[in-house]
This record gives sequence, structure tokens and C-alpha cells, in this order.
Amino acid sequence: MITEIGNDIHIAAELLRANKLVAIPTETVYGLAGNVFSEAAVKQIFGVKQRPANNPLIVHVHNADILNEIVRSVPAEAKILLNAFTPGPLTLLLPKKNIVPDMVTAGLPDVAVRLPDHNLTLALMAEAGLPLAAPSANPYTYISPTSAMHVLQMLNGKIPYILDGGSCKFGLESTIIGFPKGVPTLYRKGAIPIEEIEDKIGKIKLATSEKVLAPGMHAKHYSPKTKLIVSDDLEQDIQKYSHQKIGVITYNVYSNLLANEHQLLLCRHDDFKTAGANLYGAMHAMDSRDYDIIIVRKFPDTGIGISINDRLSRAKA
Ligand code: TXA
Ligand code: MG
Repeated sequence: MITEIGNDIHIAAELLRANKLVAIPTETVYGLAGNVFSEAAVKQIFGVKQRPANNPLIVHVHNADILNEIVRSVPAEAKILLNAFTPGPLTLLLPKKNIVPDMVTAGLPDVAVRLPDHNLTLALMAEAGLPLAAPSANPYTYISPTSAMHVLQMLNGKIPYILDGGSCKFGLESTIIGFPKGVPTLYRKGAIPIEEIEDKIGKIKLATSEKVLAPGMHAKHYSPKTKLIVSDDLEQDIQKYSHQKIGVITYNVYSNLLANEHQLLLCRHDDFKTAGANLYGAMHAMDSRDYDIIIVRKFPDTGIGISINDRLSRAKA
């Protein structure tokens, strides 16, 4: 199969209506999208991604009416969050209607839904007239794509079309909130910091790891092929591994202990939102170079730093 890259939503919509797959840009990461109502399309998503069938997909919708076509009810807190953060990087787990195939939710009663904030993809969904099932457009456990080029590098020849919407604004996946027994619960740390969610609906519970419902919370995920370590003390670790070929991902300032050409700065002046947007691109870039080890400087555990550290801890697992 030839993989084409372009920005023609008509071509993309036609492919989706024919139950073929299209990679789509969102404000978080690129998604691997298919018609949610087509079991054939959903099956292809699992196949191309090599994702286990017990790991459910997020359904992307372009407005509240379409949302109501696929979910049975929306709790009060969910409504507050929808108003505050969508379109945007928020995913809610809500009771699904029968029209959503069980394959999409891996048999779970809730469906993950989100209203992405990307003009091209919103226009595409309106044109196709379909909600789209879409996991991140990377092979299972590899680094998520934040540009059309990343998708091409990973899925060339496996899908017919990549809709190129530029670089992703947030670069980290959506924050996932569910409501088991009516209690607002965090299932995945993401592009919206937990503090911002709690500002709107009060203290929220952390999904416990024994009962992992979002396999995105599983240990190994988001991983480069090169060995990656997360460092609390960059200078010390650069010295410790100095007998190897080291690539460093850091922020604010370069380390003096290694040539700058072997370092990538994710941001300056503690601008961690920019760091989040650059993180996966830096990991893709470092992984394509010939290093023995990638050392990433840990972020402070506040705001978006918490989500970045979460991804780093899974990337190293
Ligand atoms: O930002 C995002 O959310 C991106 C873009 C493409 O929208 N999508 C994304 O999808 O990150 P994916 O499949 O890579 O991660 C979705 C996570 C998985 O960890 C999955 O297990 C969890 O959401 N999930 C999906 N449906 C669920 C459900 N019904 N209950 C619990 N977890 C669910
Ligand atoms: Mg993913």
C-alpha cells in the first residue's frame, strides 16, 4: 500500500466512509482513525497498531450532539469539564450506547470520548459525518507521533493516508477522567494538569494500579528502542555513563559535561508546556541517532511536569 501525506479532508473523509484508516492530527498527538461503527475498520486499527484487543480505543466526536448519540448519560461533573475544557485534550469515560461496537471498548461498559481541538480534524469529522475511533498512531508501546513525519516513519505502507495538520500543540496525550460509582477518577495524567481539573470539580481520585482500566497506565509504554533513563542528577549520570555514546534530553540549560550537539533542550525558562510539546519529537530524534543510552532530565513534579514525568517513567520501563 502507498501511504500518501496531504491536507485534503475530502480524500480523508472518503477513505473513512469506505472503512479505511486515516492518520489524523489532533492538539495532543496524531491518531490512527477509523469509522467507529465499522467492525472492519476497528479491526484494522488493532491490526496496524499491533495492539492487544483488551486495550480499548478513544472515540473522537466533533460536537455534543454526536456525543449524545454514543453515550447514555453525562454526569454533572463531566458536563462541567466538557464546558471548561472542550474542544481540548480531555477524554471522559461515559456509559456507552449499544450502537458503539463492544470491540471499541474491549467489552467495557464505558466508552472513552473526546472532542479534539484541531480545525482540520473537526472539519474532517463533520465532512465524513462519523465519530472516529482513534488510538495514538504509533505501534503498540512505541513513542506517540506529534507530526505527520513521525506517523510516516512508523506506519509507512500500512495506511493509505496521513492528514497533515502540522505539529501537535500539546504533544502529550489527553487527560482521561472516569466516574466509577459516580466518583471522578483520574485514569491518565495528560495535557490538562490535574490541578486545573480539580479547580473545576474539586479533589479527584487516582485510579489504583491494581485495577488498571486504562492500559495506558501500564508500565511499559511510550518507549524508544534505545535504552532510556530518567535522571534526578544529570551531571552525575553523564559522568556515570561517560564510557558510552550518550544523548541527553534536558531543559533550560545545556550541561557543560557533553557537547551541545548530543543534547536537546525541550524548553527554556521553565516553560514546561513547550517542553511537553517537544518531548516525543525529541525522543523520536534521539532514538534515530546512534546512541547507546538516552538520558532525560526529570522535571519538577508540578503542573504539566507531572504528566511529562509520568510518560518518562513508562518510557524507561
Ligand atoms: O490524546 C489522546 O487521547 C490521543 C489522541 C489521538 O486523541 N489518543 C490516545 O489514544 O492517546 P490511545 O489509544 O493511545 O490511549 C487511550 C487510552 C488507553 O490507555 C486506553 O486503555 C484508555 O485510553 N481507554 C480507552 N477506552 C477506555 C475505557 N473504556 N475505559 C478505560 N480506559 C480506556
Ligand atoms: Mg497511545
